[in-house]
This record gives sequence, structure tokens and C-alpha cells, in this order.
Amino acid sequence: MARRKYVVGNWKMNGGSAAIGEAEAIFAAAAPHTSVDVAICPPFTLIGTLAAALPGATIGGQDCHHAASGAFTGSVAAPMLVDAGATLVIVGHSERRDGCGETDADVQAKAEAALGAGLTVILCVGEPRAVRESGGAIDHVLAQVAGSLPAAFAANRLAIAYEPIWAIGTGLVPTVADVEAMHGAIRAALATRFGGAAQEMRILYGGSVNGENAAELLGARDVDGALVGGASLTAGKFVPIIAAAAELAG
Ligand code: PGA
Repeated sequence: MARRKYVVGNWKMNGGSAAIGEAEAIFAAAAPHTSVDVAICPPFTLIGTLAAALPGATIGGQDCHHAASGAFTGSVAAPMLVDAGATLVIVGHSERRDGCGETDADVQAKAEAALGAGLTVILCVGEPRAVRESGGAIDHVLAQVAGSLPAAFAANRLAIAYEPIWAIGTGLVPTVADVEAMHGAIRAALATRFGGAAQEMRILYGGSVNGENAAELLGARDVDGALVGGASLTAGKFVPIIAAAAELAG
């Protein structure tokens, strides 16, 4: 079955009120590309503002806590994201797995909390450079997929983002053959576990996607979209990626 292309901007810890106009420009330029689903995940502080300024736009969080409320200073719960106007959340980004010590079990609990709150989920996986160089990338990523995916979910509520850690923010990208091998392996693992629903699940690629390489990466087999960091911060850089996805969607 045809899976709709999905282009998601991860603003990370960038952007304040001065960036609202950038988000408006991005969604205005994306609107004619009706064959592509577009989302922006800004810092928590901007979710409510962007959701209010851009009705109908998909706004997401970059993380959530696994609990619905409680004594967790500094954390944000999935129902709070919903309350602020988010409909999506990223979980398991490598900057959270590595920078904040999140395990597969933590990521799974966050994904379950997010689904339970009514959010859709982008669940990130990806190998470090040493694992890629040792030839163990596919085993590493499939173990993350097995350990972090919730036990059950609707196929249209969760996407996986394959983000090789060594490609994030570095300008390095894997070969198309390596991307296709990884995405194919993830799809096969999903099929073993979930049967035909695996054909409906979207698998995004992330790591140094830009306007120049988007068509090639998004056109690769089993690549259903992109999770974009640095190049999602301005309309000038992000819109060409959305347009490349639209071109491929036909
Ligand atoms: P990048 O980040 O596009 O800046 O490499 C991608 C990500 O971390 O999601």
C-alpha cells in the first residue's frame, strides 16, 4: 500500500517567540503540498503558541515523561502536551538516549504513555559510529526496535525514525544502499511481529537531511519521510525538503 510521505522538523533546543514567523512561513509553503504530512516539534515553550497561531498544523513535543503527573521536576507529561495543542511526540531521540541515559524500557514506557494520551509517536532508533564500522548496525537497531516499541498500537499512530547517530548534525549521510538495507530490515522485523500492519507503518530517515540530498533519501525504498533537525529551523531550508517529498509523492 502507498504510505504518505511524512516530513517532520525537530527544532531541538532552538527557537523562541522570534521563530513563530518561521513556522508560519513553513506551514504556508507546505499547504499546497497536500500529498505530504508535515509537522514541527518545537521546544516545549513554543508548543502552545504555535498550536494557537497555526490551527490545523501538526505540532509535536520532543519528549514526554512516562507518568501522567507527579513529582518529576522539569519533566512534561504526555497529557500536558495534548493540553498545549500537540498531537505528536518524538520519543527515544539519541540525544535523550545518550544525553539523558534513557533505556529502551524508558522509551517504550514513554511511547505507551504518549499513545495513551492520544498523541501519535515518532520513535527514534540508530547506531553509533563504532557499531556501524564494526558491521553491527542492523542488529543494534533491531534490538532497539524490539526493546522500545509498545506491545500493541494502531499502525497509523506510530512511526519509526532511523537516525544513525554519526549522521546527526554532521553533514554525513549513509549510502542509499545502507539506508535501504536498514529500513528493509526494520520493515521485515515489524512484519514478523505485527503482520500486514507493518506495510502501513511509516519509517522515516533522519540525520543531515537537507534540500540537496532529500530527493535521493526520500526516494529510497522503504523510506517514508524524514526527521530533520538543523535544516528544519528556517522555511528557506525546510520547504525544499517538503517540496522534494511532494515531488516523489506525485
Ligand atoms: P540533523 O538532526 O538533521 O540536524 O542532522 C536530525 C535529528 O537529530 O533529528
